[in-house]
Amino acid sequence: MKLSQAILHEELALFDRKFKEAVKSQTPLLDRIMRFIVNRKGKQLRPMFVLLSAKLCGQVTESTYRAASLVELLHTATLVHDDVVDESLERRNFFSTYALWKTKISVLVGDYLLAKGLLLSLDNNDFRILQILSRAVREMSEGELLQLEKSRSLNLSESIYYDIIRGKTASLLASACSAGAFSATGNEELAEKMRVFGDKVGMAFQIKDDLFDYGTDDIGKPTGNDIKEKKLTLPLIYTLNNTDKATRRKLIYILKNENKDPKKSGK
Ligand code: IPE
Ligand code: IPE
Ligand code: MG
Ligand code: MG
Repeated sequence: MKLSQAILHEELALFDRKFKEAVKSQTPLLDRIMRFIVNRKGKQLRPMFVLLSAKLCGQVTESTYRAASLVELLHTATLVHDDVVDESLERRNFFSTYALWKTKISVLVGDYLLAKGLLLSLDNNDFRILQILSRAVREMSEGELLQLEKSRSLNLSESIYYDIIRGKTASLLASACSAGAFSATGNEELAEKMRVFGDKVGMAFQIKDDLFDYGTDDIGKPTGNDIKEKKLTLPLIYTLNNTDKATRRKLIYILKNENKDPKKSGK
C-alpha cells in the first residue's frame, strides 16, 4: 500500500482533484454530502489499481483518470447503499452516510453517485471503459442479492461463498485493472489478462476483509457484524465443514439461538 502510494504520488494527487470535481453538485444538500464523502475518503485501492494497471501496460492517460474516478464513484455508491442494507452506522472511522442522513437520503445519494459516473464516461465517449465497469455493477448487484438470499442458510458451501464474493467484491477490482489496461493501450487481450489478475486480487481482498470481521483490530467499521447477521463467511464455513459432528451441532445451536439474547449479541 505504502509502495503504491509512493509510486503513484503525483498521479494520486491529480486523481484527488479530478475526483472532487467529478462529484460536485449545485444542490446544497447534495453538495454538503459530497463534501463529507470527499473528506472521509478511503484507501482508494481501486483507483490505485486502475493507475498501476495503466502504468504496467503503457502510460497513464486522461481516460485512465476518468476510469479511476468512475471506479471510485461506483465503489462509493455501493458502500453508501451497503450500509443501508447492512444497517451499519460506521464507515471509514466515522459515522456512515446512513447513520447521518438515514435510508431515503442514502439511497438517493448512491443513485446520484452512479449517475455522475455514467455521465463522466458518456460525456467523454469512454464507451468501452463504461462497458467494462457496467459489467462489474451488474455482478456486484448479483453478488449482494445472492448473499441476501443465502444469508441465514446455515449450510452455505464454500463454492457459493466464492460466487458471492466474486460478484460483490472481485468484479469491481477485476474491472478496475481491465479498464486501467485498456485506457493505456486500447488492447483487448491485455485488458482481459488484467481482468483475470484483478479477479484473484479481489477474491483475496474480500477473504481478508471477512477475517478482519472476526478480529479485534480497528478497521474503521464495526466488527462482529457478520456473525450477528448470521452471514456465513469463510472462517465459519471452513470451521463448520472441518469439525466433528457434535461441535458442528453446538456451533449451529449457538448461531441460531444466542443472537436472540441481547446481552450476548451485544445489541
Ligand atoms: C470495503 O472496501 C468494501 C469491501 C469490499 C470489503 P475498502 O476496504 O476498499 O473500502 P474503503 O474505500 O477503503 O473505505
Ligand atoms: C461491502 O460488503 C460492499 C460491497 C462489496 C458491495 P460488506 O458488507 O461485506 O463489507 P463492509 O464490511 O460493510 O465493508
Ligand atoms: Mg454488505
Ligand atoms: Mg456492510
